[in-house]
Amino acid sequence: MAKCNDEDGKEDKPCELYPAVAMYGPNNVFDLKKGEVKLWCRCGLSKKQPWCDGSHVGTGIKPMKWTVDKQQRLYQLCACKYTKSPPYCDATHTNLPCDVIERQEICSNKGKHELKDFTKKLCTGCGWVPDF
Ligand code: FES
Repeated sequence: MAKCNDEDGKEDKPCELYPAVAMYGPNNVFDLKKGEVKLWCRCGLSKKQPWCDGSHVGTGIKPMKWTVDKQQRLYQLCACKYTKSPPYCDATHTNLPCDVIERQEICSNKGKHELKDFTKKLCTGCGWVPDF
């Protein structure tokens, strides 16, 4: 089960909602400024990865507010959204594809995924994203 931080990034609590996988690998970000405040996308739906673009609205997942804690040239931020140390990549993505397939196979909403009236952006029961 994924962990979710609340919006201010302070609380790390179990989360019943599974995000979409934006990418199986890190998102390389360059030249952030120490102290800069960013909203890291937790839902996986943003088109501006790794940052929130508001696509999470209606999913129940919120972005994580992150204050850049150190000055460096390259930041490898999590794009799979299943890291255990957000927003940084911890290589969780390497074993994730099998977990995602398995979770989607046993999802209690699986029978509803392909129905035309499945209007959600994301099945938070398994991380499945409809192909609109
Ligand atoms: S948390 Fe993903 S778009 Fe906002």
